[in-house]
This record gives sequence, structure tokens and C-alpha cells, in this order.
Amino acid sequence: MTDSPLLIADHDAVRVVTVNRSDKLNALNAATLDALHEAFEAIAAEPAVRVAVLTGAGPKAFVAGADIAEMSGLSAIQGRDFSQRGQRTMRRIETLPKPVIAMVNGFALGGGLELAMACHLRIAADSARLGQPEVNLGLIPGFGGTQRLLRLAGRAAALELCLLGAPIDAARAHQLGLVNRVVAAAELEAETMKLATQLAAAAPLALRGVLDCVNHGGECGIEEGLAYETAQFGLAFSTEDMREGTAAFLEKRRPAFRNR
Ligand code: COA
Repeated sequence: MTDSPLLIADHDAVRVVTVNRSDKLNALNAATLDALHEAFEAIAAEPAVRVAVLTGAGPKAFVAGADIAEMSGLSAIQGRDFSQRGQRTMRRIETLPKPVIAMVNGFALGGGLELAMACHLRIAADSARLGQPEVNLGLIPGFGGTQRLLRLAGRAAALELCLLGAPIDAARAHQLGLVNRVVAAAELEAETMKLATQLAAAAPLALRGVLDCVNHGGECGIEEGLAYETAQFGLAFSTEDMREGTAAFLEKRRPAFRNR
């Protein structure tokens, strides 16, 4: 598949997915959105993959947005379809039962920030710039940006970024809780892989329980969320990994989790 818009590489149990359109700053066209959807479907289905890292090719951009050239000629109905296509891909990533880390190596604008926000953790280079500049094009975010920004960083940040359309630097994004960590650009890959490797050694079913609870709880009332957490907590007692984790603690040794 030489003309795929993605590069896919495995490092033990960590799969690195790279949006590979660096001449267009990795802008998301329909083909790239579909390829991403397919790539994350595969990650969900492959037991050997425990963690995913998502990034952009080249030194400049994570993803500089939805593809403006492709969008410029769309009708209203096609625009709606494009939004649905993007939202489907973002939701596929967000609901993946395995952790996904966005390695934000440069511009994460518009659909790029929306893509990063659909991931579970975000680690950014100190040189990265993030924003929702759609209003500058007479548009609004359409891949979940208004909703995820609101949930992730609150109403003030969502309105600031989406109304002003001005990008912010990585330090400000960290202040707003939009990224989990900021590291020197030269350290980004090593730090991200360190984090991914750590997650790959953790108990996969426990990670899945956390992801499910946070995804579900973000969308329901406290009583329902707590009941869901209780059910997931109980379920964890049925796993071999829970017996192994508690036994290893008591025996003062490192646990060896087996995804069972
Ligand atoms: N969609 C389509 N093409 C894009 C793109 C996007 N979102 N972002 C960048 N590109 C393309 C440029 O058109 C250019 O292509 P060309 O060489 O064929 O002319 C190429 O990527 C390089 O971008 P360029 O603008 O020359 O780089 P720069 O360093 O001068 O500026 C940005 C970088 C990110 C500030 C600028 O590219 C930009 O503002 N991009 C759009 C961001 C945006 O509005 N995103 C939200 C879209 S909804």
C-alpha cells in the first residue's frame, strides 16, 4: 500500500500510527480519515497491540487541520457528511479499549487538535502550537472540537479557542489541561515511547476498565457513573491479572500481566 496516507510501525506491543502527508502538513482529507478509522479498528482487534501512539510526519506538524482544499467546494450536505466522517474516526479512537497517546510534534490545528483530543493522553513538544482556527475560514469545528474542548478544558477555554481562532503554545495548552505533558522537541519521541512502553506493561483489562469508566462517566450523572464503576471494579476480580497484581505486591515482586 504505497499510497496510504499513514505509516504504521510496531515497536513490541506499541503501534505507532503516523499521518503521512507532510507536504500538506498532514491535513486530514476523506481518505486519511478513512485510513485512520481502519487503522484503529485493526488496533482494537489485535491482541498483541497494547498501546497506540498517533503522530504526524515531518518536523512541522502533528496535523494542521481538515483539508481546506477538499472542503472548499463542498455543498451543505457534503459538509455534513464530512463532519460525520471525521466524528466517526475520532469516536473510534476515543472509544478504543486500549490507551492512545497523541504525540503532538508541531501544529495541531482544527481537525488536528480534534484528533489529539480524541486520544487518551497528549504529550506535546514545547514548540507545538494548538488551536481551533475554523472561524477564520468562516467555519466551526466539525470533528467534535466544540464538545471535546468543553469537556477537556472547560467552557472558558472552549469559547476562547473556538471564538478567537488564535493558536496557543504548548505551555498555555498545558496550563489549560489540554495536554498532559510538555517536553523539549528533541525529547518528544523518547519520552512518548517511554510512556507507551510503561502502559504496554500494565494490566490491559484494568486499563480498559479505566477507559470505559471515564468515557462512560463523562457522559452521565454521578449515580449512573458510580454504578458503572462498581460493576467494572467487580469485574476486575474475575481476571487473572488482578490475582497476579495483588499477589506480586504482597510477595514484593514485579507483576507479569497476561491480559487474562
Ligand atoms: N488543509 C489543506 N492544506 C493545508 C492545510 C490544511 N488544513 N494546512 C496546510 N496546508 C498546506 C498548505 O496549503 C501548503 O500547501 P502548498 O505547499 O501546496 O501551498 C502546505 O500545506 C504548507 O503549508 P504553509 O501554509 O505553506 O506552511 P506555513 O508554515 O506557512 O504555515 C500554518 C503553517 C499551519 C500556519 C498554515 O499552513 C495554516 O494556517 N494552515 C491551516 C490551519 C487551519 O486553518 N486549520 C483548520 C482547518 S479547518
